[in-house]
Parts: sequence; C-alpha cells; structure tokens
Amino acid sequence: MENPVLEAIYKRRSIREFTDQTVDISLLHEIIKTGIWAPSGLNNQPWRFSIIQESQTIKNIAELTHYSHIVSAAQALIAVLLDTETMYDEVKDHQSAGACIQNMLLATEALGLGSVWLGQILKNKIKVNSLLAIDNKYDLMAVLAIGHPLHHNQSSTRKNINEFILQPEEMT
Ligand SMILES: Cc1cc2nc3c(=O)[nH]c(=O)nc-3n(C[C@H](O)[C@H](O)[C@H](O)COP(=O)(O)O)c2cc1C
Repeated sequence: MENPVLEAIYKRRSIREFTDQTVDISLLHEIIKTGIWAPSGLNNQPWRFSIIQESQTIKNIAELTHYSHIVSAAQALIAVLLDTETMYDEVKDHQSAGACIQNMLLATEALGLGSVWLGQILKNKIKVNSLLAIDNKYDLMAVLAIGHPLHHNQSSTRKNINEFILQPEEMT
C-alpha cells in the first residue's frame, strides 16, 4: 500500500497496552490539531479537548471505567467534548465529533503512537467532568488513551464488503 492515508486507515488498530515512555506534549497538540481539521456542519467546530498527563489524575479517571487497566497504562489521555452552546444540530454535531476522533486515532498511528477510543467511560461522564473541573455544558464524547505501543500484535477483523452494500432487492 503506497498511499500514506490509506495505509494509516488500514494499519490503525486500537492499542490498549503501552510502554512507560512519556508522550511529548507537542505530539498531543499535533493529534488535537488533526481533530480540529475534521469537517463539521457549518464549520461550527463544536469540539473541545482536555489533555491529561498527570499520573494521579489518570489513575482517578481509570476508576471511572470498566477499562481501568487500559487507562492506567496510558501515558496521556485526551478527553473529547462537545460544546453544547456551539452545537446546532444534535445528529450532525455528534457526527462531527466522530470525524474528529477518527482523525485523532489516525494521527496517533501516523506519529508512531498508539491509542484507543474509550466509550464505556461515558456512563460516568458527569464524574469525569467533575474530576477535571469541566463545566457540564461540555458533553463528553470519548476519552482517548494514548501512549507508545507496547507491541504491534493487535489484530482486528471486518466482515466482507459485500455484507454492507445493499443489493436492490434489500432496499425496499
Ligand atoms: C464509539 C466507540 C466506543 C468504544 N469504546 C471502547 C471502550 O470503552 N473500550 C475499549 O477497549 N475499546 C473501545 N472501542 C474500540 C473498539 O473496541 C475497536 O475500535 C473495535 O473493536 C475494532 O478494533 P480496531 O479499532 O483495532 O480496528 C470503542 C470504539 C468506538 C468507535
């Protein structure tokens, strides 16, 4: 695969184990920059971010998810939130958040880092906001756990493309 964008898309895997090497803040800013270059309806850019690198805060956030082992192992977290005061359309703003997060996942891959999109933690989104002293007008969309990958053994599967393309007889 010669094209770097296609390569990043196909090579990206959810990384859940990390080394203890710290992640430079400039890389976290680069990851966020790719997020804000995602498309958004009316170009309203409703996303907001919180960077968490302090180890005790990471531990405290780990307690708010079933996936505490993943969060604890991460060297950095980025919370992705929607500013409800900037939003204009529930569905479209959530779609924009998804595009933003996917850009960020691909950027971590391109930068030689690893990350995983954590959604289960959303059941405790109010507690996450409270722990980070973030006003609840910012609605948590995901927490990305980020670090240097411990290994590259992750594999994943997808169903065959034919299972997703509707045939004319299935469309009615
Ligand atoms: C909305 C969303 C929520 C997710 N939540 C979690 C999560 O809480 N914990 C986790 O380990 N992975 C989570 N994932 C990652 C998926 O499990 C992963 O993307 C999927 O298994 C495919 O694997 P791949 O990313 O390596 O291709 C989530 C992914 C998405 C898109």
